[in-house]
Amino acid sequence: MKALVLAGGTGSRLRPFTHTGAKQLLPVANKPVLFYALESLAAAGIREVGVVVGTYGREIRELAGEGGAFGLRITYLRQSRPRGLAHAVSIARDFLGDDDFLLYLGDNYLPQGVTDFVRLSAAEPAAARLLLTPVADPSAFGVAEVDPDGNVLRLEEKPENPRSTLALIGVYAFGPAVHEAVRAITPSARGELEITHAVQWMIDQGLRVRAETTTLPWRDTGSAEDMLEVNRHVLDGLEGRIEGKVDARSTLVGRVRVAEGAVVRGSRVVGPVVIGAGAVVSNSSIGPYTSIGEDCRVEDSAVEYSVLLRGAQIEGASRIESSLIGRGAFVGPAPRLPQAHRLVIGDHSKVYLTP
Ligand code: TTP
Repeated sequence: MKALVLAGGTGSRLRPFTHTGAKQLLPVANKPVLFYALESLAAAGIREVGVVVGTYGREIRELAGEGGAFGLRITYLRQSRPRGLAHAVSIARDFLGDDDFLLYLGDNYLPQGVTDFVRLSAAEPAAARLLLTPVADPSAFGVAEVDPDGNVLRLEEKPENPRSTLALIGVYAFGPAVHEAVRAITPSARGELEITHAVQWMIDQGLRVRAETTTLPWRDTGSAEDMLEVNRHVLDGLEGRIEGKVDARSTLVGRVRVAEGAVVRGSRVVGPVVIGAGAVVSNSSIGPYTSIGEDCRVEDSAVEYSVLLRGAQIEGASRIESSLIGRGAFVGPAPRLPQAHRLVIGDHSKVYLTP
């Protein structure tokens, strides 16, 4: 079985980060979210992976390379514009040939991996197999109606009146019939070739479309809130390890990872927390559930439940919480007068001020 990982897209919900980079490269516990996907494909025994990329293809290729570090062989496939998940499948036609494949949305995080799903898909081939999970708000998702034997009867994209609570997770298994399906469909109202329409086409043709339901946690990292939640989840499984320097005036509580070349001075760090190489934390309180990226500087501040990307700097901020702070961004004190907030923020940034 091959895999097709989708790492293009617009990423509008993750602006401004997606103005300068791929959302699939945003770090979770200081590692790109895409790497968790690649690792879980390798763990499931998959070797041949196509990665669909858009604007930031070069950056993704530079980091993931030929895939050898993951035990994979990666072929990069360029999608000229994000024209939908089914369009991404169509541009991979030559790479996929007539092989069965797993379609994996590159910004999704499945802590349980895909090993069981891959095993089942290989053992009981179907035209399509969908991974579903019950959600509280189905109208925000692709929703599947499933019969008691696990056959999918109907799919709906973000329905106003959902017929079930089972939402599609970003992992699908397909046989070669999907290629005819993606050729048969036309763009949706939002101008995309929808994978749900391709699967519905297969159902309408009487092809076997199966559902697997999981209640294990799953998360799409499509928004800042989701990123923080996935980061929390991954940090929960973190093992503490101190390779950098922690001075005698500092206290570490719980599982804390301080990478080689990082420095913690006069600070209190409550795990789970990761502090990346070259980062300097001084006179601050960090954690829990916080990732400090490489070469960050945090001084005279408190940071909790947050992610700082490489080279971010925070200075004199009495309390930062639930925040995602971009590469090389600076957060610091304003002059005492006039008593005002001073903002130099990029396009589509969001700032939440306390009164
Ligand atoms: P989405 O998160 O559904 O779409 P998006 O990336 O455009 O984000 P937003 O809604 O915030 O604008 O995409 C799911 C995954 O599939 C994600 O990893 C991006 C990828 N993708 C492609 O590679 N090509 C595409 O044409 C689309 C729509 C998504």
